[in-house]
Amino acid sequence: MQYVRLGKAGVKVSRICLGCMSFGNQKAWMVEIEKARPIISRALELGINFFDTANGYSNGRSEEITGELLKGLRDDVVIATKVYFPTGEKPNQHGLSRVHILQQVEESLSRLQTDRIDLYQIHRWDYETPIEETLRTLDDLVHQGKVRYIGASSMWAWQFAKALSTSDRLGLERFVSMQNHYNLCYREEEREMNPLCREEGVALLPWSPLAKGFLSGKYKRGRTSDAVRFRSDELLSERFFKPEDFNVLERAEEVAKEKGVSLAQLAISWLLHKGVTAPIVGVTKVEHVDEAVGAVDLKLSEADMARLEEPYMPHRVLGHA
Ligand SMILES: NC(=O)c1ccc[n+]([C@@H]2O[C@H](COP(=O)([O-])OP(=O)(O)OC[C@H]3O[C@@H](n4cnc5c(N)ncnc54)[C@H](OP(=O)(O)O)[C@@H]3O)[C@@H](O)[C@H]2O)c1
Repeated sequence: MQYVRLGKAGVKVSRICLGCMSFGNQKAWMVEIEKARPIISRALELGINFFDTANGYSNGRSEEITGELLKGLRDDVVIATKVYFPTGEKPNQHGLSRVHILQQVEESLSRLQTDRIDLYQIHRWDYETPIEETLRTLDDLVHQGKVRYIGASSMWAWQFAKALSTSDRLGLERFVSMQNHYNLCYREEEREMNPLCREEGVALLPWSPLAKGFLSGKYKRGRTSDAVRFRSDELLSERFFKPEDFNVLERAEEVAKEKGVSLAQLAISWLLHKGVTAPIVGVTKVEHVDEAVGAVDLKLSEADMARLEEPYMPHRVLGHA
């Protein structure tokens, strides 16, 4: 495994982050703790030390599973979680107000069975709370030792630039990472967000690096699928499966075949060659972990990269809302 700094932060993370949204019970494609246990064991065996979850995944069940399976290893792992999405229907049960963040951080710490969160991320931009309030609250949590670093997730680049400059202006903790939607089939972040993060030394942690499994090899043009994720994750067919996505998929299949690697490995390797810190790979089977880790040492030439990128067509923005 390779380890790199999380942007400008000193902490070192594995080049593969394990996405723990797959652990839970909200949708049929997710796996409960018995199936998650060997997945996490294999990830640790192969040197993965970076795990991403959120307070909202399966209403907290993802954090509970992650916490239970990582307890006892606390100093060896980097645990990332998030806050923003509704946790109830009352007026203060969503967003990034001081009230909601302070409630939620305690719940996340308890479910994760830990006394600190290594990377606490805002899951989206909150249009109803001034960014100053959110940043002051996150800064307090860092000073209290409940959070070590702060990060952000999908938003417009102007919003992230405003957040970074607000931290600088007020002398508050700065976001060290951006978790955004980025994969071979969705590259709109190359326009504004990725260059901003490179310029600011912010770690890029792409989510859905395999386009929710579209880039796994199991889906074919013109054919429907009975895969459980296809049936139970409506965003998969809504976001991908357009003719232009199949153009990218089929080109990648050609290149993967020539190189003797799987499509998933090639798609992960492409992201690593684009300078991201660690793709957050969602896995539902132990063998997915092996494949993801195998992608770290795969080398792609400039010609390979150009061939993979050539069929891409611009997409509508997906994932900010
Ligand atoms: N910040 C955000 O807003 C946000 C949004 C979404 C996700 N995330 C994070 O990103 C992580 C990953 O997201 P994701 O699950 O949507 O995306 P993903 O990593 O693109 O897709 C995961 C799916 O790909 C398939 N897969 C994985 N490895 C494979 C392999 N080697 N061979 C074949 N198929 C393979 C599996 O499909 P099957 O289960 O069908 O086998 C798996 O469910 C989440 O766990 C979460 O931590 C964050």
